[in-house]
Amino acid sequence: MKFFADTAEIADIKDLAETGLLDGVTTNPSLIAKSGRDFMEVTKEICGLTDGPVSAEVVALDHPTMMKEADKLRAIADNVCIKVPLTIDGLKTCNALTQDGTMVNVTLCFSANQALLAAKAGATFVSPFVGRHDDNGVNGMDLIRDIRQIYDNYDFETEILVASVRHVGHVLDSALIGADVMTAPPKVIMALAEHVLTDRGIEGFMKDWKATGQSIL
Ligand code: G3P
Repeated sequence: MKFFADTAEIADIKDLAETGLLDGVTTNPSLIAKSGRDFMEVTKEICGLTDGPVSAEVVALDHPTMMKEADKLRAIADNVCIKVPLTIDGLKTCNALTQDGTMVNVTLCFSANQALLAAKAGATFVSPFVGRHDDNGVNGMDLIRDIRQIYDNYDFETEILVASVRHVGHVLDSALIGADVMTAPPKVIMALAEHVLTDRGIEGFMKDWKATGQSIL
């Protein structure tokens, strides 16, 4: 399963890249706003930090203007992936862009029917939001299971990119279901390494090693 960092914070992306766990980056208008950076500049900088896809989202709501914005965004770097909302205009834009080889991430997906449309429109990725379903008392991972089954039924090439990931449980469930990608805040990805028994084991090893009076260096 590929790990994408869901952030526009350069320092966090660099830190994650050092672990070898960074397969790509996703941003959205809210994350860009939170960064306080110029959208074009920060996207270009992020594209230089990974060879993987960097999702940059259009903000227009109509197909013609989405296409104009996409032209500007994909000129930033070869690894820019254009993000469009799961609307009819977004699907028209997805269909047009993917026909000339541009990567497209169809986002704000909240139903399996929507994901079916994204695949038929040729999306590179579909981004079903699990956390926001959880926020409303619906098990977001059920949506991922449904999409996985539908995509496997018809051998769709669109990759399931689990988004709105809020904790390590979402990552585990995504991997168990067989999602292709998950995107999460770097702190969630880093938290995957944490376990109390690991900490306890390190403490025990260090205590016993100290008792030997030896040093390696
Ligand atoms: O990639 C989508 C993600 O940024 C949304 O996350 O926590 O705002 O639902 P959240």
